[in-house]
Amino acid sequence: MSSEKAVGKIAIVGSGLVGSSWATIFASSGYKVQMYDISEKQLQTALTLVEKNLRKLDEHGLQRGNISADAALLNVSTTTSLEEVMKGAIYVQESALEDVNFRIEFYKKLDSITEPNTILASSTSTIPASKFTEGLVNRERCLIVHPVNPPLFLPLTEIVPAPWTSQETIDKAAKIMESIKQKPVKLKKEVLGFAVNRLQFALLAEAWRLVADDVIGVNDVDLVMSAGLGPRYAFNGPCETVHLNAFGVRDYFRRYGSGATTVLNDMGIVPDFTDESVIQKFETELEPKMSSSNIREYQAEREVKLVEMAKLKKAMNL
Ligand SMILES: NC(=O)c1ccc[n+]([C@@H]2O[C@H](COP(=O)([O-])OP(=O)(O)OC[C@H]3O[C@@H](n4cnc5c(N)ncnc54)[C@H](O)[C@@H]3O)[C@@H](O)[C@H]2O)c1
Repeated sequence: MSSEKAVGKIAIVGSGLVGSSWATIFASSGYKVQMYDISEKQLQTALTLVEKNLRKLDEHGLQRGNISADAALLNVSTTTSLEEVMKGAIYVQESALEDVNFRIEFYKKLDSITEPNTILASSTSTIPASKFTEGLVNRERCLIVHPVNPPLFLPLTEIVPAPWTSQETIDKAAKIMESIKQKPVKLKKEVLGFAVNRLQFALLAEAWRLVADDVIGVNDVDLVMSAGLGPRYAFNGPCETVHLNAFGVRDYFRRYGSGATTVLNDMGIVPDFTDESVIQKFETELEPKMSSSNIREYQAEREVKLVEMAKLKKAMNL
């Protein structure tokens, strides 16, 4: 458990799906939180969602700190003034539009009004910080702090520096994440896709190739994960897994390394994800069991399962 205390004001810039999740997690940890967005209407929607999220955490015993939903809610305020949200903030979590040109201009503005020690963290899933912070005066305080959806129940957070992000900023951001019971992973340098999407896309590419080549059906690809690799990975990642699947990692690679190389050499090229014939194969199997017209319902069902997993991990002190 972290010894970091939730002291200070957190600015949540952009209060959509991810921004309101961040607001919930910070408030549930005892921080003072202010949400900024471009309209009052959006902020009211976000506030309603934060309240619902806080009550959900309480209901499942998954609060991040020793504070009730009611008390946490009192610590959440909103504003449509960027200057106001930045005032006195120790940490800014920006979760606005996924558009590099928007961010280039927006970060110039944040840079011009930031206070001397504030950390400027972006939730962006795909845009490296070097693409929108290079010319800034305070660029050493900018970095990516990328959550995984839904952040309320999946604590992993990737911390990705730009080449000029200071070590102090990286370490402070990681400590703040620990203080809200997120699990930070520090990337040592910037890389496209960060770690989560590089691993996820590698898996997706092979799933696509197996389906495209008629080796296996879509539902069976998912079964390979949900009944086989997935539950194991929920507790031991791929590195620990191979360590445990032999007498240590050295033994594993001695026994199975050349076999793995042969299989990897047999894999095809990067798929063309616009290939209509393959997309249709995916749809034919997925739509009857999870119609995309009811996607919210299935997302809610997934959340119920993730809540149970989060409760189990909490009970196991993991
Ligand atoms: N959705 C995910 O699964 C997910 C996961 C991890 C990271 N992210 C990243 O989080 C960020 C936000 O994604 P989201 O899914 O919450 O999007 P969203 O569309 O739900 O929210 C975006 C919010 O930004 C606000 N906004 C628009 N213009 C703005 C401006 N000029 N200033 C401030 N706010 C403005 C919008 O009003 C909206 O509330 C993106 O960068 C995305 O890549 C998303």
